[in-house]
Amino acid sequence: MSFPPRPRHTTLSPRPNSYAGMGDVLTGRRKQSILVVDDNAVNAVLLKEMLASHGYSAIAVQSAAAAEAEIRREAPDLILLDVVMPGKTGYELCRELKEDSKTRLIPIVMITGLSDREDRLKGIEAGADDFLTKPIYSEELFARVTSLLKLKEFTDELETADSVLCTLGLSVEARDPYTEGHCERLSRNAMDLGRFLGVEEECIVALGRGGYLHDLGKIAVPDEILKKGTDLTPAEWEIMKQHPVTGERICRPLKSLRLVLPIIRYHHEHSDGSGYPDGLRDGEIPLLPRVLQVVDIYDALRTARPYKPALGHDQAAQTMRAEARSGLWDEELVADFFAMLDQRQQVA
Ligand SMILES: [Fe+2]
Repeated sequence: MSFPPRPRHTTLSPRPNSYAGMGDVLTGRRKQSILVVDDNAVNAVLLKEMLASHGYSAIAVQSAAAAEAEIRREAPDLILLDVVMPGKTGYELCRELKEDSKTRLIPIVMITGLSDREDRLKGIEAGADDFLTKPIYSEELFARVTSLLKLKEFTDELETADSVLCTLGLSVEARDPYTEGHCERLSRNAMDLGRFLGVEEECIVALGRGGYLHDLGKIAVPDEILKKGTDLTPAEWEIMKQHPVTGERICRPLKSLRLVLPIIRYHHEHSDGSGYPDGLRDGEIPLLPRVLQVVDIYDALRTARPYKPALGHDQAAQTMRAEARSGLWDEELVADFFAMLDQRQQVA
């Protein structure tokens, strides 16, 4: 498999020499549909009208049961879902939709109260893609809606699930301007280290995919936390620590990603048990996540962030060896990684 997914060209559809014919195509595009689920009729109608005024086809319903009926009738492109509703709650509906292969790729934005961190945590656990806080301001609403609908267009257009997920991984990367090219470098280095170690071909493929998918769960981490970088509050840190679990859950239904799941879930575990989400220790962390972890740490050290400068290769090597000795990383694998980089350098 090659990364990232490339647009396909066929002999039946040569590239157009001009855009003359595209007007019809554009005007003929259907309106993107958004389902608003809110038991408060006033809120629901208000949201519906705001969306309709921006050219979206919006439908408002006031219960989970009505939402399910509407989704069965025609799956929307996006769902805005209130958390608190009589009967089935927003969380329950969100979880059910995310567990169903027919609806799991519909982006769901959960609408929560102003300071409801707990609501957000529950929403992340239920598989929500993003959050909006009451009162809802139109700029924020349309920023979220536009970006998630763009993502939804990708998911509709791309044909294979692998491509869909790798594109999602890249979209997570795109939210942080300091990580540009990170997924691609990780994918290449992880595959090279896998080859250096002599692992089987299917594991090499999994490492390549892991480079793009390991942080996919950050799709559920709000921008203000993701871009903060350091000094997260305990509550923000709890949200951040969910990303391996969220990412694993998104990818779990795909059998083709069986070997990638441990990479996603365990890429923040530490040899001394101080990592997350499961606090595994040395012998409990499988090889593939350890491989991705080593290349991930190296890339993070070599990249400048707002709160730290980029380290040179030798400084990064020194730091990683010291951290491995202190119990964070697999010491042997760190040595293998630098041996692989040396070998690659000699060949080049
Ligand atoms: Fe991560």
